[in-house]
Amino acid sequence: MSSGLPYENSAHLYDLMYVRRDYTTTAEEIRAIAEDLLPGAEDLLDVGCGTGRHLEVLGNWYRGEGLDINPTMLELTHARCPQIPLHENDMRTFELDRSYDLVICLFSAIGYVETAEAMRRSIERMSAHLRSPGLLIVEPWFTPENFWDGHLAANFQMEAETKLAWMYRQYREDLTAVLDIHYLVGGEGQPEYIRERQDLGLFRPAEMAEAFAAVGLEAEYRESEVWSRGLYVARRGAG
Ligand SMILES: C[S@@+](CC[C@H](N)C(=O)[O-])C[C@H]1O[C@@H](n2cnc3c(N)ncnc32)[C@H](O)[C@@H]1O
Repeated sequence: MSSGLPYENSAHLYDLMYVRRDYTTTAEEIRAIAEDLLPGAEDLLDVGCGTGRHLEVLGNWYRGEGLDINPTMLELTHARCPQIPLHENDMRTFELDRSYDLVICLFSAIGYVETAEAMRRSIERMSAHLRSPGLLIVEPWFTPENFWDGHLAANFQMEAETKLAWMYRQYREDLTAVLDIHYLVGGEGQPEYIRERQDLGLFRPAEMAEAFAAVGLEAEYRESEVWSRGLYVARRGAG
């Protein structure tokens, strides 16, 4: 088991790590799905919103709110989108006393809850915050079957003024993916070394399907060119 918050030592590096990631295209695909299945949608909750890059784009079309367990992530979201209401909460237990047309949980944030039981509770919590009709969209993490056990990930970010290298040889411990990440941050002065272990649950497609069905959501898994891990699109009501 990992200790502490996800991204406890590295939240301040998140935007640098993903500076090249195209959030406009992924946000546009979310909008296209919502336009198709729930054309009148007006508001959304982004669960595990990270630094708010999806919220920033989706804010062009929806009244967005964000939720994350890591307060540094929320500070970064606030700096990016000062007008957006934010909630410091755990997706496994949150209760916001309101509901939304769309609830989204992207870039494998669901994996960080680690166990299938916690994933079920998180889907239940997300579902409890959906209106009817409503749409829940979840981008999964890897499954036990498609996880690259033993793969060495080596990443370099040389574009921004601060340079970043991060590497880990990922491995499986039973149904958990372990990422023991070594970062080297080249800002001012000597490079700084940071190490952080991240544990993510490897959930089977059948477990995901059961979690949606258990709360009465009609879910389908969609392959996608934009979302390399695919997307679960789950509906409540006629949509
Ligand atoms: C890989 S990042 C994805 C961030 C964002 N969705 C994106 O697309 O860039 C995962 C995020 O989930 C958050 N997270 C992990 N476990 C959580 C939990 N139990 N409750 C709420 N947020 C959580 C992390 O703090 C992190 O910001």
